[in-house]
Amino acid sequence: MIISFEGIDGCGKSTQIALLTDELKRHNKKAVVLREPGGNNISEKIRELLLDNKNSSMRSETELLLYIASRTQLVRDEIRKMLEDNFIVILDRFADSTTAYQGYGRGLDLEIIGQLNHFATDMGKYMPDITFFLDIPVETAFSRMMSRGEEINRMESSDKDFFERVRNGFIIISENEPERVFRMDAIQSKEKVFEQLKKILKSRNII
Ligand SMILES: Nc1ncnc2c1ncn2[C@@H]1O[C@H](COP(=O)(O)OP(=O)(O)O)[C@@H](O)[C@H]1O
Ligand SMILES: [Mg+2]
Repeated sequence: MIISFEGIDGCGKSTQIALLTDELKRHNKKAVVLREPGGNNISEKIRELLLDNKNSSMRSETELLLYIASRTQLVRDEIRKMLEDNFIVILDRFADSTTAYQGYGRGLDLEIIGQLNHFATDMGKYMPDITFFLDIPVETAFSRMMSRGEEINRMESSDKDFFERVRNGFIIISENEPERVFRMDAIQSKEKVFEQLKKILKSRNII
């Protein structure tokens, strides 16, 4: 079982993932959280390249291929093994982020991105069973990020129009794949969002 969390920075992914891992523990389920880009040695190195503010000259195409490289390694090194050991794999970002950020955000070819994601996920074998898209307006995300008080990285320092395109991309993805991708109204309190999330997981017999 693979569960991924998607949405722009500040939408509440880490918050909901923490609530979910606690809940799964209470149900005595084995769960592991992997973040993207990253989640293993090689992918964490790629993450450093991607998020480093010094790499402002990075081409969108390079960025795309680095995300795909990171995912390719994560799928084969970690996700595959964890699933074999019957873990529930929780992903903090995954393939949909590439479609939303590099496709809708940067304007790269969606067809090519689809093929690269297909390749990275071993011909779609390791695509998530369920994806929670936490949707909030860009302004709300910005103010939440400010209150988090962490340094802004290269990806986060893009302008508002970019994040509007990315958000819109996630909305289109959720409309294209309604049986996998659940669009959550993440402007609500974290408790309310989590209640809805649990309902969906219960309806699928995951908790
Ligand atoms: N539903 C919510 N309502 C208000 N604030 C929230 C909510 N969910 C998360 N936050 C706060 O917003 C900030 C960003 O949340 P976080 O979970 O780190 O988002 P992400 O991992 O998607 O970037 C954090 O300070 C967090 O405590
Ligand atoms: Mg986070």
